[in-house]
Amino acid sequence: MACTSDSWLYCLAILLLMAIVESAEQPHLSNENGVKTSVFLSPKFVLEPGSVSNKYYYDLDFPRGHIALKDFNAEVVDEAGNPIPLQETYLHHWIVLRYYQQKGVEIHGNAWFNQSDHVVIVRNSGVCDNDNLQYFGLGSETRRTATHIPDPYGIEIGNPVEIPHGYEEKWMLNVHAIDTRGVRDRLGCTECRCDLYNVTVDEYGRALPPDYDGGFRCCYDETKCRVKEGFYGVKRSLYLRYTVKYIDWDASIVPVKIYILDVTDIWTMSDESKGVRSQHYCLVEYKVESCDIGVANDGCTHTKSLSVSLPTSGDVIYGVAHQHTAGMGSTLYGQDGRVICSSNPIYGEGNEAGNEAGYIVGMSTCYPVPGSVKLSDGEILTLVSNYSSARRHTGVMGLFYLLVADSSTKPDIALHAPAPVHVEMKIFIPGLGVVLFGITIILILNFAFRFRSGKKRDYKAISP
Ligand SMILES: *[C@@H]1O[C@H](CO)[C@@H](O)[C@H](O)[C@H]1NC(C)=O
Ligand SMILES: *[C@@H]1O[C@H](CO)[C@@H](O)[C@H](O)[C@H]1NC(C)=O
Ligand SMILES: *[C@@H]1O[C@H](CO)[C@@H](O)[C@H](O)[C@H]1NC(C)=O
Repeated sequence: MACTSDSWLYCLAILLLMAIVESAEQPHLSNENGVKTSVFLSPKFVLEPGSVSNKYYYDLDFPRGHIALKDFNAEVVDEAGNPIPLQETYLHHWIVLRYYQQKGVEIHGNAWFNQSDHVVIVRNSGVCDNDNLQYFGLGSETRRTATHIPDPYGIEIGNPVEIPHGYEEKWMLNVHAIDTRGVRDRLGCTECRCDLYNVTVDEYGRALPPDYDGGFRCCYDETKCRVKEGFYGVKRSLYLRYTVKYIDWDASIVPVKIYILDVTDIWTMSDESKGVRSQHYCLVEYKVESCDIGVANDGCTHTKSLSVSLPTSGDVIYGVAHQHTAGMGSTLYGQDGRVICSSNPIYGEGNEAGNEAGYIVGMSTCYPVPGSVKLSDGEILTLVSNYSSARRHTGVMGLFYLLVADSSTKPDIALHAPAPVHVEMKIFIPGLGVVLFGITIILILNFAFRFRSGKKRDYKAISP
């Protein structure tokens, strides 16, 4: 675009429009139920064959204000917005964490928060003490796992009365991705086998235990999994594109609490006589040894289970498990043996993103009719996580994510009579509002300019 003295006002208008588009809050549109949808891109991460990115992004773009979250989903895309299949970039996990940060302080570096960061992590409602504190998080199953929260429920955030004075609510994203183009052993790289990463110390330089031969402590940020001799693949920039659906908060929304159970949880019960409170130390990952050679392969199932109680009673609104490759399903049982939720992996069968053969591309979810699956106070739940042990696996996981509505808060049925559970917006035009706003400004400036110069404009002046 050539800016001549004749066309300066036009140029100004265009530059103004560009500035507005650049700086505008991410696009959102509301559907008829008032559900707003925002689509954001994470900061970019750069990967080449074999490399690992495990970065922490603070002060993430996120909807602001007192709202109820209705859905959070994501996928890895390249610079052109194309979805990247798991065979190329394995999405080990992403995690979204809520926190309050003291105003005026900054967080530096690629690390978890620490005391000096003036940060209060707003953890979910339980139960691990040391980990799994996130609000949202999934892995390879991201593309085909339902994550919406049905009406009248929602995750309440941004309530100004809950945010401590002098602090603001923020969000952190951690994305752990592994570029497996051209690697020697694709499964081994995704299971973070230490020999493939040629790693004997963890990310802080501490020696790994001799029996630790695979798991996230061997595939930290900037490590590299072994690539086939002579393989070449370009370095590329990728993003986590995440979609948040939400509604403005109002009194008819029933808040749900987030619980994440972990089958590796080491639960020590409280002992009031000794003044010891109950503790949950979660290891997050575990190992599946291969079954005896003698045993027929089809009988090889590794079962790990945990008994645990939640610090709440209430209605289960949503449930989903998280497992890695070779996962065969996970079930949460009540104390009386009833099934609270069963969640099973969906394995891909093709090559395209969302259907990658051999990978868990989705997990089935539970949406019990509200009120039909209740947890009672102090009830002991049993979590079972099954894996195929036809071969050995390292760094596997068995999480169970639950949304629970406190039964003392009754949904206001009258206000939500036959509302459709979830309306997907089929057509999404990014930034439509912004573009219309910009066009309006151009028209106004154009009009003003004509009025001022009093001569006919040559429209060729703004040809690109
Ligand atoms: C904790 O924060 C301090 C100050 O911001 C920083 O120097 C230190 O490296 C941080 N520690 C870790 C483990 O990130
Ligand atoms: C593995 O690491 C060791 C020590 O850091 C290094 O000497 C060796 O060359 C590495 N091997 C490969 C195959 O990268
Ligand atoms: C887990 O495996 C055991 C043993 O094979 C089986 O009895 C149980 O039904 C399985 N549970 C799930 C959730 O797949």
